Amino acid sequence: MVSESRHGGSKKRYRISKRANQLSPSGIRKFFDLLASIEGVISLGVGEPDYATPWHIIESAIESLEKGQTMYTSNSGMPELRQELARYLHGHYGLDYDPNTELLITVGVSEALDLAMRAIINPGDEVIMPDPHYVAYDSCVILAGGKVVTVPTYEDDNFEISAADIEMNLTGNTRAILIGYPANPTGAVMSREKTEELTDVARHHGVLVISDEIYAKLVYGVEHVCVAALPGMRENTVLLGGFSKAYAMTGWRIGYAAAPAEIIAAMTKIHQYTMMCAPTMAQVAALEALKSGEESAAEMVEDYNRRRLFMVKGLRDIGLPCFEPKGAFYAFPSIRITGMTSEDFAEALLTEEKVAAVPGSAFGECGEGYIRCCYATSMADIEEALARMKRFVSKHRKD
Ligand SMILES: Cc1ncc(COP(=O)(O)O)c(C=O)c1O
Repeated sequence: MVSESRHGGSKKRYRISKRANQLSPSGIRKFFDLLASIEGVISLGVGEPDYATPWHIIESAIESLEKGQTMYTSNSGMPELRQELARYLHGHYGLDYDPNTELLITVGVSEALDLAMRAIINPGDEVIMPDPHYVAYDSCVILAGGKVVTVPTYEDDNFEISAADIEMNLTGNTRAILIGYPANPTGAVMSREKTEELTDVARHHGVLVISDEIYAKLVYGVEHVCVAALPGMRENTVLLGGFSKAYAMTGWRIGYAAAPAEIIAAMTKIHQYTMMCAPTMAQVAALEALKSGEESAAEMVEDYNRRRLFMVKGLRDIGLPCFEPKGAFYAFPSIRITGMTSEDFAEALLTEEKVAAVPGSAFGECGEGYIRCCYATSMADIEEALARMKRFVSKHRKD
């Protein structure tokens, strides 16, 4: 009672910070919760491989535990892992990072995103990002005290963010451009030409690019362009990468950031007070993944590609127009023929047909009219989900 009368508002509002109050709960989580209460659901909701981590990676971690490797590591991550990562980035992109000052091992790309934002944002600074975008992007900016500026992207433009639109949204407060291609939720891959246009704008205006390249390996018949590897961009990019998707390692919680030393130093300071270090056994596993995981990753990608083709064709066949995703493991069909909102569609699909997909609106206003279907699930489940969706669409279509 005392705190209520002294501070005017309700006790609950007084206890929670303005920044935390500004966040909306993840639209994806809401669906997981609903899904958990219904039996027999086929989930196209979760953005996670259905594979277990390749055995040789698991084994390396077991071995390290058996040897008693259970202590903290250096805050920046095990030196051997940083050295191997430096070799990997050199081998794949011709990028040279100093493993001692320019690489940081993090608790997934999730932590790396948060650290990057907290390291560069002053209150009121603006971060430009595409709409739709991965659900954590705006939250990280808000938690760091920044302001989210979204740039609409459209199916007709391959959901690529346009450099001209970015330029129109630049102000004296713009601190960074945050992009993630291959993209969640659309599966879009940004072409070399468009990426170069974007980096020209960033360089010209001296704005940092934070590039979330967690899906870098998951591309189908097109190239992945690493932003930091474009001319003049190594000094102007915070490159984020991870192990969750390509090596089926979501639960290990391991990722990394590569950036100029002053940015990594700032991120490391925050990381050392909040995380200390990424899980030791996960670091050992990541080292094994970098050293010998290419083959298993390539096999999974081949399999995702089969599922991608099957899913996209299946969605089109049941009457849902579907943009062709060239990366990640999501299809993003339009559900406009039903006249329903994305949220109503997803909710009704779950309750009537027990298929879980995520409403496109969970990823931003431009996601309205779409749903996200993850195809990193078995062919049998995709087939059954499509059969159920066919029934659902024929019942609800308005055209
Ligand atoms: C675009 C994107 N970035 C980052 C993440 C988080 O990845 P991690 O498991 O490395 O924290 C995800 C997970 O779905 C994602 O889709």
